[in-house]
Amino acid sequence: MTPAANANVKKNARAKLKTVFAASALRGKTVVVSAAAEGIGKTVAIACARAGARVFASDINEKAIAQLRAKKIPRLHIGFANAACEKSVREHIAAVCKHSGGVLHGLVNNVGIAGPTAAVENIAAEEWRAVMEANIGGHFYFAKHCAPPMKKQGGCIINISSTAGLFGFPMRAPYAASKWAAVGLAKTLAMELGAKNIRVNAVCPGSVDGERMRRVIAAKAKETGRAQKEVRADFAAMASMRAFVRAEDIANLAVFLLSDAAKNISGQAIAVDGNTERTD
Ligand SMILES: NC(=O)c1ccc[n+]([C@@H]2O[C@H](COP(=O)([O-])OP(=O)(O)OC[C@H]3O[C@@H](n4cnc5c(N)ncnc54)[C@H](O)[C@@H]3O)[C@@H](O)[C@H]2O)c1
Repeated sequence: MTPAANANVKKNARAKLKTVFAASALRGKTVVVSAAAEGIGKTVAIACARAGARVFASDINEKAIAQLRAKKIPRLHIGFANAACEKSVREHIAAVCKHSGGVLHGLVNNVGIAGPTAAVENIAAEEWRAVMEANIGGHFYFAKHCAPPMKKQGGCIINISSTAGLFGFPMRAPYAASKWAAVGLAKTLAMELGAKNIRVNAVCPGSVDGERMRRVIAAKAKETGRAQKEVRADFAAMASMRAFVRAEDIANLAVFLLSDAAKNISGQAIAVDGNTERTD
């Protein structure tokens, strides 16, 4: 890429980005979002509420839950649910259904922890299990308990995977394995639930600008003995667009997929990553 083209790509990436949907895109819909007190899930939940949906978000971080609740965003409710625990998810969805009159149109399975950055021989079995329990167990528990109410009128499930669910990711074995599983679960449920007018897709973000990537970069810098600035530049250079993506980019796709405009899109793994070229 020429220096001028590279500068242009960076300028585009810095441009102020907003969620773009009309306040009516999800009017009348009830949407559940997991792990939504911070990060991408919070941006998705707020975008859905702004697009007219009644949103039931959940998280395990009580402080972050209280902070989001204090914002008093119209149509956005947030409560406690540990996505890695089936009992907690079952109770949360039962409470949501009580509020919504048993109606549920959308589920955004956003939960996903980063897990360890380490060589495979240095990863503990508990670390592997913790990633699997949250990242794929969490998607399964929410889908399991949301599917029955959704079957009544149809709906849409989005599993937030990652480019790590489309490529191998050295030093992130549990995370990459769990994100491929999220794609497999989406493709399978798309086939199983399609006849009930429920669409299921996976969304695969690239590196998202934010707190989580700062932690991942710090861990990779420590593991490889490189400077954080260098590791960050390398992450950006992995995509053709030579830039990180924003949480709003993910929210825009989520709102579109949840809307009736996407009524024939199912069984897909859609990347929002500026086109990942390598993941080494
Ligand atoms: N940030 C990125 O660069 C990036 C890239 C690709 C994919 N993703 C995926 O996007 C999703 C969101 O990522 P993020 O960066 O916003 O995450 P994050 O690390 O910022 O966490 C978001 C929220 O998840 C909550 N959480 C963690 N474990 C939970 C559990 N067991 N139950 C309920 N809530 C829980 C946290 O309390 C936090 O509020 C994840 O699935 C992640 O794998 C993120």
